[in-house]
Amino acid sequence: MKKTVILLVCATLIGGCTPRSEAERFADNLLKKMTLREKLGQMSQFAPSTGVVTGPDGDPIDVYAMIKAGEIGSVLNLKTPQEIEHMQRIAVDSSRLGIPILFGHDIIHGCKIIFPINLASACSWNLDAVRKSASIAAYEASAMGIAWTFSPMCDVSADPRWGRVSEGAGEDPYLTAKMSAAMVEGYQGASLADSSTILSCVKHFAAYGAPEAGRDYNTVDMSERMFRDRYLPPYKAAIESGAATVMTSFNDFDAIPASGNDWLLKTLLRDELGFDGFVVSDYRAIEEMMAHGTAADMNEAAGTALNANLDMDMVSGAYLAYGEALVEEGIVSEKEIESMCRNILIAKYKLGLFDDPFRYGGADRFDKSIYKEENLESAREVARESMVLLKNDSGLLPLDSGERIALIGPFVSSPRAMLGSWTAFRDFDRTVTVDMGFKSRFPGRVSVAKGCDAFDDIEGGIADAVRAADKADVAVLVLGLPGELSGEAASMTSVELPDCQKKLLSAVRQTGKPVIVLLATGRPMALESVIDDIDALLLVWHPGTMGGHAIADLVSGDFSPSGHLAMSFPRCDGQIPVRYNYKNTGRPADGVGLRSTNSRKIYQSCYLFTPNAPLYPFGYGLSYTEFSFDSLEVLTPEVALGESVRIRARVSNVGNREGAAVAQLYMRDLVASTTRPVRELKGFEKLFLKKGESRFVEFVLTPDDMAFCRKDMEFAQEPGEFKVWIGDSSDAALEGVFVVK
Ligand code: GLC
Repeated sequence: MKKTVILLVCATLIGGCTPRSEAERFADNLLKKMTLREKLGQMSQFAPSTGVVTGPDGDPIDVYAMIKAGEIGSVLNLKTPQEIEHMQRIAVDSSRLGIPILFGHDIIHGCKIIFPINLASACSWNLDAVRKSASIAAYEASAMGIAWTFSPMCDVSADPRWGRVSEGAGEDPYLTAKMSAAMVEGYQGASLADSSTILSCVKHFAAYGAPEAGRDYNTVDMSERMFRDRYLPPYKAAIESGAATVMTSFNDFDAIPASGNDWLLKTLLRDELGFDGFVVSDYRAIEEMMAHGTAADMNEAAGTALNANLDMDMVSGAYLAYGEALVEEGIVSEKEIESMCRNILIAKYKLGLFDDPFRYGGADRFDKSIYKEENLESAREVARESMVLLKNDSGLLPLDSGERIALIGPFVSSPRAMLGSWTAFRDFDRTVTVDMGFKSRFPGRVSVAKGCDAFDDIEGGIADAVRAADKADVAVLVLGLPGELSGEAASMTSVELPDCQKKLLSAVRQTGKPVIVLLATGRPMALESVIDDIDALLLVWHPGTMGGHAIADLVSGDFSPSGHLAMSFPRCDGQIPVRYNYKNTGRPADGVGLRSTNSRKIYQSCYLFTPNAPLYPFGYGLSYTEFSFDSLEVLTPEVALGESVRIRARVSNVGNREGAAVAQLYMRDLVASTTRPVRELKGFEKLFLKKGESRFVEFVLTPDDMAFCRKDMEFAQEPGEFKVWIGDSSDAALEGVFVVK
């Protein structure tokens, strides 16, 4: 034993590096056998299921011939386990080195069982539930043969005009960081060698959630300080939780497209964050450098991306087409290419693909793995926990007194409205729509009238709806936006309800019956213009396969709502972007009220006729019971730099039934070398309390929690006075202070 240790130490000293892992040794040995073209092939991903696959010059390419030539390392978007197995067989049996293909897909909120959209799950504030959702998604996806998902999306955003807010965890860096890390842990599990865990992918690196004007793919331009304080934490947290891959974003960052941005991909990602997995571009993003105007042609785009150490090209074909010549001309070094290819081979090794290229997938495994009852139940639970009760005048909800229900609206029987976007493997016939959930839970009490389409009137639709409401005790309207209008390329200039839905709501309101709205949407909506016509408002988002049952579970009172907003709801479009963690400015609005048509101007940072505050703030959510927060105590009111602060408060269920509270800790650094947000979420705990039960929650603020990008650009603490609040919304009033000496 001793001799081995001495030899190892000598080898290390001689080698001048830490001992290589088994995966690294395997990759290095394989690389020695590979041609330059085969290395570039491993760095190339194609999507053959999207019809004719074209190369960079637009000519159709023969994917199978390329696989046999060892020119395709990864494939995305195949649809069946049979296709995947067939393609893998060709790669393993017919290519020179038999290197297995890595199959990827966007399994971002479920595979066959669709979970609530990610923004909804973030509103559950339940990290265990989110982690479990990701692990179930991985379980089903791996059974199909998929070993890599392009998730979690870690992009912070406060702009609901941007359709992709549906895929993230909202406006707050801390909550998004926790959710992203939980998803990585769910997908990757304890070991990637487990054939039901898959590679995760931190996307979209970086700051893709801040496009100008909320328009997808648009310019992102911000200070490095803003980036580090508000956008970087979730990427960092996901990487620290072991994410195996990162995806570059479509946008430019500091005027350089992310896929060719060596500050992002080398200085920040590798050197500072220590990321040791592999980086893939977004779809044809290398090619898009030409449209961005930073590459004259694909050859230059390929060279820029390779020299930025972007390991894998998603679909543009640039690496295969130009990589060899770029090496020949000395523009790119083969050594660099070798190290990028190595990152990909190591990931495949960690998955066990070289041991058994068919360990993922297989038609019989797939059929046996999908739609398991316990997993459907998990989807129903997290859907319930993701819904947010925004309004409940006079306790109209729950409907637990035998009321006759008129179920009205464009989405009452829409499976798509339950599923949202990025649901390639969905089955509409397995999706529980609202009317299905209601008829199951309220047998004999439900009448249905569509009333209108999502964006258009229906001839006689309103009259039908009014008749249904007249015959019922309560009207339940399912309004919002179609599921497919969330996600990518779904930017909107208005997030108000469509006019036809406003008309329907108004007409039903005039019947005098109580009005409940179930809001199905993938983004916050501006509801001030209609909120007075609504007695109770339950935000159901796009709740997934079990959506209809989960909604009925809450409407019936079988369960109490416990969701809290992960993103502010604006009053009107003009407030966008509105966020809770804003800066105070030199002229903070002191809420003196609004300028009326003839009053004097108010020289503060406010609008003439609209309050600054959103209609519903980040962190807000009601329950069927009531929680009170008191006895806040800062257990360490004075600490030195480098010491943690402990704060606690008592949470009590003072209502008439059990329920789950979300205790949230907010902090404010009152004076610092830079302007700081008026509040920052720095902790949360979801706790279930019986009627009358109280419990203390205790939070620890670490020096890292108090650190920020200081004036000197160091990420560190500063001494000074801090305020803290604990409550169940970002406007919590229960306050404490502490001092860092
Ligand atoms: C898309 C999306 C990205 C997705 C990728 C593969 O354009 O931007 O989120 O993972 O392409 O489908």
